[in-house]
Amino acid sequence: PRIRLSDYRPPNHLVDAVELDIRLEPERTQVRSRLSLRPNPERPGDAPLVLDGEDLEILAIMLDGIPLARSEFVVSDRGLTIAAVPDRPFTLETTVLIDPSANTRLMGLYRSNGVYCTQCEAEGFRRITFFPDRPDVLSVYTTRIEARKSDAPVLLGNGNRSSAGDVPGTDRHFAIWHDPFPKPSYLFALVGGDLGRIVDGFTTQSGRQVRLGIYVEKGKEDRARYAMDALKRSMRWDEEVFGREYDLDVFNIVAVSDFNMGAMENKGLNIFNDRYVLASAETATDHDFASVEAVIAHEYFHNWTGNRITCRDWFQLCLKEGLTVFRDQEFTSDMRSRAVKRIQDVRLLRSHQFVEDSGPLAHPVRPETYREINNFYTATVYEKGAEVIRMLKALLGPDAFARGMNLYFKEHDGRAATVEDFLACFEKASRRDLTQFKLWYSQAGTPELAASVDQRAAEGTLEITFEQSVPATPGQPKKEPMVLPIAMGLVGEDGRDMLPEVKCEPALKNGVFELDRQRATIRFSGLKERAVPSLLRGFSAPVRLVSNLGSDDMLRLGALDSDPFNRWQALHAVMMKVLLDHQSGRSPEGSPTTADLVAALAQVGADEALDPAFRALVLSPPGDTDLTREVGHDVDPDAVHHAVEWLRELLGRQLGSTLEDIYRRHASNEPYSPDATSAAHRALRNAVLSLLVATGGDDATSLAGEHYRRADNMTDRMAGLLALSRLRGPVLDEALEDFYGRFRDDTLVLDKWFTVQAIAPDEDALDRVERLTGHPRFAMSNPNRVRALVGAFASGNPVQFNRKDGRGYAFLADHVLKLDRQNPQLAARLLSSFRSWRVLEPQRRELARRELERVAGMDGLSRDVADIAERSLG
Ligand code: ARG
Ligand code: ZN
Repeated sequence: PRIRLSDYRPPNHLVDAVELDIRLEPERTQVRSRLSLRPNPERPGDAPLVLDGEDLEILAIMLDGIPLARSEFVVSDRGLTIAAVPDRPFTLETTVLIDPSANTRLMGLYRSNGVYCTQCEAEGFRRITFFPDRPDVLSVYTTRIEARKSDAPVLLGNGNRSSAGDVPGTDRHFAIWHDPFPKPSYLFALVGGDLGRIVDGFTTQSGRQVRLGIYVEKGKEDRARYAMDALKRSMRWDEEVFGREYDLDVFNIVAVSDFNMGAMENKGLNIFNDRYVLASAETATDHDFASVEAVIAHEYFHNWTGNRITCRDWFQLCLKEGLTVFRDQEFTSDMRSRAVKRIQDVRLLRSHQFVEDSGPLAHPVRPETYREINNFYTATVYEKGAEVIRMLKALLGPDAFARGMNLYFKEHDGRAATVEDFLACFEKASRRDLTQFKLWYSQAGTPELAASVDQRAAEGTLEITFEQSVPATPGQPKKEPMVLPIAMGLVGEDGRDMLPEVKCEPALKNGVFELDRQRATIRFSGLKERAVPSLLRGFSAPVRLVSNLGSDDMLRLGALDSDPFNRWQALHAVMMKVLLDHQSGRSPEGSPTTADLVAALAQVGADEALDPAFRALVLSPPGDTDLTREVGHDVDPDAVHHAVEWLRELLGRQLGSTLEDIYRRHASNEPYSPDATSAAHRALRNAVLSLLVATGGDDATSLAGEHYRRADNMTDRMAGLLALSRLRGPVLDEALEDFYGRFRDDTLVLDKWFTVQAIAPDEDALDRVERLTGHPRFAMSNPNRVRALVGAFASGNPVQFNRKDGRGYAFLADHVLKLDRQNPQLAARLLSSFRSWRVLEPQRRELARRELERVAGMDGLSRDVADIAERSLG
């Protein structure tokens, strides 16, 4: 059954209060629930009571204290319906049994590593008790949790703890948690287990004392310090930048090792995949530290954008996710380097969201129909959703944007809202009509923006004609023109910004040209010298820009643009041009463009006045996925891979002495610190290492081997290992063995070891990955392990996944089918590695299609996998 946005109806009944009594047992957990219900005034009378429920064993049902007879309710595998309920407030009590140990889907209440925990978003609460499990039913929850003391000495719930104690005469104890803020069921959480913890405190702007706790596997407490620090910085930042204060006396975070996604923003009790909490110099890379910081912030920021204001229905998912990603991106920009963060985010957007948006799984930021909502926690909803907010800010300006946000917080606090509600606040705050802007939420596909520049030096004029088109996507053959904010500048010969000295028609607003029709021209006059237009500064709109600027102009931008994003972009565009030439059979090796590119990279790379992290990004050429996206059709993954390797080798060779110099200069003899400045030096040095070893040979091997052996932190250790994995040979084997020996009992760290071996592009990759699936430390039941090995192979090793013999596809399909019986959500994720199968050359396309059809044709598929398989085949 398909669910449609246009079919939305308010719930028949509202639940004002929920009282839960949960007795934790590994295989027989008893859940008693008492719901205070009333008919929804927005619904006609006599509506039946409809409660969701899945995998629940019913022990008792009572309405207003009276047991219901079997004839008075209907149970199906989807829930419980009671036709005759009073037309006034009433209570419903249910008692059910559930089995947390058998819950391998990791939705609802399950046990991970001996710890009881929950995941209720999107529809997991119905696997705990009968309930109208939809986000527009907001209730106040009181939860009593009981367990054997030895089994679960720590008992955590949402809100504040109101009491706790022993159950007399038994080996059991209990805790009662009360959350005064009405919330939807997907924000419910509980945890029970034998956990270590660290504690801290935070005083809010208005003086509220908040007790902070992070709970982790015993013995790993030290690895949670960085997360705690990130949490306190997030809390302060949200006060300072968005005026949002925390609202309970306690804020707890729990790290668990089996988790389908990154983390979850349950009210007052965030539950995390442990990879986004645990970090130490020895076990985590700089990138891991940055992810911990970003995810901690993201989940914390949900307290306002998601929890205090939630979503009316799941079609509105971007309302909380796009906005919260935007907020965490801004946080990171303020904590670290804004320019670097922007470049990294755009790289991610292009490699994930653009790819999704141009394939069979493309969907709007706000989808209009779904079969399985879990399949819509996508790059489009999250990352493009954040871009939409960024554009809103660019179009309205920071002041109107801030007024709109404040209005949103004021008018919708405590409610379940829609995208319309959100936009209405910004219309009010800015007095601007956002009807056309709203197309960003409903039209899928990445707009193409063509810019044609016509400069007449003799007349001192420069005209740019912009033309947009939005490609057709599944279910959307025809599109309307969108509004695109195009931030721009004119770069003079000396790099100065020429905008202030020229005339512009129409005038720019804060350096932004708004393209709101298919085609428009902007005209500059009074230019005293030749200018190079710098278009789409800061990547002001998520589009594919194609311009007629030549490589010389691009290299001027690369050398001089005051916008760091466009400096990076320009250099990468020239690299991409050279790659496209190479892979289409032309030989750019000795071309003037290549020579100029090498010179430009040498200059930026060696410029000690620039942020090393920025230079690291400049010196990281496009990868297979980037080139595949640009080629766009009939892709031969081998040719793509060769082109990418060729450029890396060429840069390694031609930039050799510059790179060696940078490598020496940025070595550190300070003790490791994860801060952005220290990390930037390592990033630069490791980017340089990666190019240096691309030349291959014994020198490369000894450099990489040395890098590995000397590493005193995980960032450098991994950089060395990755470099070695490209070179193969006995030094790599030794390093892999050394790495395994150090971390054999730390599966989270071993994930890196699995991944390096999964993504090395040599011919043996698939055999190796198959062998590793039988490794004693590998487990199909653990999502991190599966992603680290099978997922990394399918999405991080394009040349071997797309083997010509189709074995990569068959391997993935086999694992999807195996996994589907245990954990459909994870299986569906893995299957979406096929999302760009249609761009492949005919032979591979056929092989991929066959595997997708094999999956789609299986009996007993989960809704999750069936949905992805069928949409992929389109
Ligand atoms: N709301 C969580 C986050 O973004 C993601 C939870 C998704 N869970 C799921 N089962 N689909 O932070
Ligand atoms: Zn989120």
